[in-house]
Amino acid sequence: MTDGREQFSSRLGFTMAATGSAVGLGNIWGFPTQAANNGGAAFLLVYVVFACLLAYPALMAELVIGRHTRSNMVTALPLIATHRRGQFLGKLAGLYGVLVASLILAFYAIVAGWMMAHILAPSARVIGLPAFSLWLTDFSVSRNVIFCLIFSVLTALVVANGVRDGIERWSTRLMPVLLGLIVLLIGYVFTQDGAMQGLKVYLIPDFSAMTEPRLLINAMGQAFFSLSLGVGTMLIYGSYIRQDENLPIAAALVTLIDTGIAFLAGLLIIPAVFVALKQGVEIYDDYGSLVAGPDLILQTLPVLFGSLGVAGVAVAAVFFLLMTIAALTSSISMLEVPVAFGMEQMKLSRCKSTWLIGAIIFALSGLIAIYFDWLFVAVVDLTTKYSQPLLAAILCIFAGWILHRDRLLGEIRSGYESVESSWFWKIWPPYIRFVCPMLIIILFVQGIIGQ
Ligand code: PHE
Repeated sequence: MTDGREQFSSRLGFTMAATGSAVGLGNIWGFPTQAANNGGAAFLLVYVVFACLLAYPALMAELVIGRHTRSNMVTALPLIATHRRGQFLGKLAGLYGVLVASLILAFYAIVAGWMMAHILAPSARVIGLPAFSLWLTDFSVSRNVIFCLIFSVLTALVVANGVRDGIERWSTRLMPVLLGLIVLLIGYVFTQDGAMQGLKVYLIPDFSAMTEPRLLINAMGQAFFSLSLGVGTMLIYGSYIRQDENLPIAAALVTLIDTGIAFLAGLLIIPAVFVALKQGVEIYDDYGSLVAGPDLILQTLPVLFGSLGVAGVAVAAVFFLLMTIAALTSSISMLEVPVAFGMEQMKLSRCKSTWLIGAIIFALSGLIAIYFDWLFVAVVDLTTKYSQPLLAAILCIFAGWILHRDRLLGEIRSGYESVESSWFWKIWPPYIRFVCPMLIIILFVQGIIGQ
């Protein structure tokens, strides 16, 4: 099954690719705004607990299934089931995962396109092209579709080059740049007036927020989205890991780096918003909550950058470049899911599969861009709020109940000789059998009822 299959070259290669997938707009945009609106460090605390207790075990389940079966989600789940019904359900869940990954990419590419347009906007204004600059920042179908197309082509170019020469190479190049840019920007924002107030809002916990069910469901959704779980991205990356790799350590590293970068992003965004407040920008909405979502990134921060003079042009470009890089290393992992399916199931070449599927997903993005008011939020909610946690629960069930315990142990032992006598092996298997699926389902139902 493994003959001729592509592989990451080393632990570093896998770590870069998987953290590249995990670290995305979810970390730099989603996490800080959720934290600011859900009790600051109280959210951070709950998030860290969920990342370790829910997302890490689920990530392990995906990696083990991926490496054990060495195939995409649609083939992988039926492969580990011994009964007809399990195989059928596995195939169905796999197809659903591929569909959800494609839909996530369809809306993600539109948002990433906004980031790219914002890299250029301030310079366009400075060099005397105000109309062009306005087009770049104003919401229009033409701008959305054109920049989504550019971003989608970039994504496809990387994926078409394969696991090592495309995904691994670009993630390894871009992730250090991303980290460097965040640190640079934090350094800059901290020198500005108002930053310390933001730091307080972020780091002083408001524990009263902790009892709200909304906080729990938000933190769970955020953790699953951030670690790219449920839709087969980590499963397919797991299928490219070398056989001698220690999976529990690899997964722990990815969880740690992803959470660390989300924390850093909070240190950047929340203080930046309060610097904007000092500059006279309105940062609270009518309900007294901090502006979140598109308005925060696309209006509040650009006003702040605009008020910083020439330095602001550079800071804005660096900031939106950071967002674009974060989005690109994630979008390539989303596209790899249906592309691997096309290669393995429909026997297409990598190149054909990438461009064909890339074109279909771009068509979906176009549809979302045209019927934006109807479709955008619906697709985001359907995929990230509902489908991702459910699919993650199904993957835990497959790893915990359907994959035979000896095969599970054998897979982890390859790369971790002494696993049987470790704490990990005492806790993790019962954990993904009972605790993970139950917790996910309880929170999920609570989330729906509490709507
Ligand atoms: N983890 C990515 C982010 O934080 C999003 C993502 C979701 C990537 C699902 C792949 C699959 O932005």
